[in-house]
Amino acid sequence: MATSSQSEGGATFSAERYFATQPPPASLEHDVARVKEFVQRQLKEGRKVVLVTSGGTTVPLELNVVRFLDNFSAGTRGSTSAEYFLKAGYAVIFMHRQFSLQPFSRHYSHSTHPFLDFLDFDPSEDPSEASHIVVRPSERTQLVEVLTTYKAVQRAGTLLTLTFVTVNDYLWLLRAVSQEMSLLGRSCLYYLAAAVSDFFLPRQKMSEHKIQSGKGSLHIEMDQVPKILKPLVQEWTREGYIVSFKLETDPDLLIPKARQALARYGHQVVIGNDLHRRKFEVVFVSPKPKVSAGASAEDYEESWLRIDLAQNPQKEIEEDIVAELVKRHQQWIEAAGTQSALTAR
Ligand code: PMT
Repeated sequence: MATSSQSEGGATFSAERYFATQPPPASLEHDVARVKEFVQRQLKEGRKVVLVTSGGTTVPLELNVVRFLDNFSAGTRGSTSAEYFLKAGYAVIFMHRQFSLQPFSRHYSHSTHPFLDFLDFDPSEDPSEASHIVVRPSERTQLVEVLTTYKAVQRAGTLLTLTFVTVNDYLWLLRAVSQEMSLLGRSCLYYLAAAVSDFFLPRQKMSEHKIQSGKGSLHIEMDQVPKILKPLVQEWTREGYIVSFKLETDPDLLIPKARQALARYGHQVVIGNDLHRRKFEVVFVSPKPKVSAGASAEDYEESWLRIDLAQNPQKEIEEDIVAELVKRHQQWIEAAGTQSALTAR
């Protein structure tokens, strides 16, 4: 266990050192085989592919894990957006935290819209011998709509679901998936909505067994998770269109932090969201056309997207986020064509 007295000081891991010292999850090989097959099929069928990451990562404190750190993310942003990407004709790799919300089933999550509450026994049968279940009339229209889309997606084979729990699972999976997706060139989009832990406890510093409470207060010093956007942009998927998210609770930090991320990693868009306003307001921050990332604040532009939930309570902001990204991604694909035509002249 890393306590403050035992620690040699929190370390910053490079991505390279991270993958050289932290073991891959047992399911990685199996997941990679599924991704390979999925990507090949979409390539053959000429579909664009989006990787949606969704939900929070845990940070285990013990090898035989009893305790772990977690965060608030429920996977609403990711699961909702995945549905709109499917609707827009994308194939979706949905990489999500186990038991967080998923496309389609999210409409019937147990806390907000419990599944059992809209089912009844067939009223024409004797309740003690009922064998048929019916859907309450008030729920039928929505269920038919959700089920129809869900079945169509299953038939088309355009949704692949992958699961992670810990930040280690997430990092290994993200690297492997992005390397497989890089085959798609500019046709792939990365939509990184997961809330990934910034700190972790390396395996070498973890207690093997449950940390005992008898020793008084607990001091843990964690190391920094490598900034994974850097190798993602610069090594694993050089042509992919990359959208990262930035969550803040201080609204004044949103735009400066988003610009900082673009300057540091050189990707295409940061979507900024404030914790309390994220269901109805986001800001797209991106480099101005033809200006390389990494320069001054004037080289970036912001565009706010807001919806009026009082006027339209059913509206989901993800519908507009995805519509905007589909447009920008298409422009990105077409820009490559223009560039190669210019080079050929
Ligand atoms: O799931 P919900 O409850 O709907 O909430 C959605 C959300 C608020 C979590 C989501 O919209 C969001 O903002 N996610 C990103 C949170 C954040 O601020 O992440 P970050 O600053 O730690 O990371 C920046 C970006 O890099 C993120 O896109 C993250 O997914 C990605 N990242 C971060 C660290 C890391 N090691 N690997 C990464 O890929």
